[in-house]
Amino acid sequence: MKLDGARAIVTGAGAGFGRALTLKLLSAGVKVAAVDMDETKLAELAAEAPDVSTFVCNVADNDQVEKTVADVFSAFNGLEILVNNAGIMKNAPLINLLQRPDRKHSLELWHQVVSVNQNSVFYMSRAVADKMVGARSKGVIVNISSISARGNIGQTAYSATKAAVEAMTKVWAKELGSFGIRAVAVAPGFIDTAGTAAAIEEKMLQRWVDQTPLRRTGRIDEIIATIMFAIENDFINGEVLSVNGGLVL
Ligand SMILES: NC(=O)c1ccc[n+]([C@@H]2O[C@H](COP(=O)([O-])OP(=O)(O)OC[C@H]3O[C@@H](n4cnc5c(N)ncnc54)[C@H](O)[C@@H]3O)[C@@H](O)[C@H]2O)c1
Repeated sequence: MKLDGARAIVTGAGAGFGRALTLKLLSAGVKVAAVDMDETKLAELAAEAPDVSTFVCNVADNDQVEKTVADVFSAFNGLEILVNNAGIMKNAPLINLLQRPDRKHSLELWHQVVSVNQNSVFYMSRAVADKMVGARSKGVIVNISSISARGNIGQTAYSATKAAVEAMTKVWAKELGSFGIRAVAVAPGFIDTAGTAAAIEEKMLQRWVDQTPLRRTGRIDEIIATIMFAIENDFINGEVLSVNGGLVL
């Protein structure tokens, strides 16, 4: 795909991968709709990148997604790129012997993680794909998965949602391919971000690093390069691009 002049939505654009990707796309001449529920983070992004268009939206809420997608299409007059990046990393075992009185995995946490990591990808993609098909526009949907999709201890909800994201990617690659719309997933391993530091204890993270053949965590720019590759290469479809230093869970 030719990037200069293309139009994109990036969800979770206020921090981490989403923020870095937004800046990278802007520098390549892409018009970017930066979507996030955190208004302050979007304002900080706009202060650094005046060319960005910002949209406050909770992507776990279908009504907000429908409105935002309609607003972006009317502001940009079309769209070629959707990156479903917004997500939350929450950990809990299925049974926690130290948790009283109920040692079972919290239902509330389960629903929260499924809403943000899985439902949002479905809501955003169906709204955007509908408009792309209506406009007979070719494009690409990139979904951010995780190495945890393979089943990570202590992450029932997170792992399940990322496995679902990979499954949806494969379905949409087949369904939307005939419209010229590709679907690709990028599955990072353990990456040096604020999100990782907040979600994973240092000792636990060191254990993962020790098991990684490259003996380090990944860098944000290594993830961004992979997302850019997925966007630009017009013959990649239905793949999960793993970026994890060789770590196997
Ligand atoms: N950081 C890692 O090491 C790592 C590894 C594997 C996968 N991932 C995945 O990459 C993606 C981005 O991770 P990150 O570390 O950059 O996250 P982050 O926490 O740094 O940033 C996430 C952004 O998403 C926004 N967001 C969260 N919920 C939202 C919602 N409901 N609606 C709109 N915006 C919302 C937040 O406000 C924040 O700006 C996530 O899907 C995550 O699961 C991250």
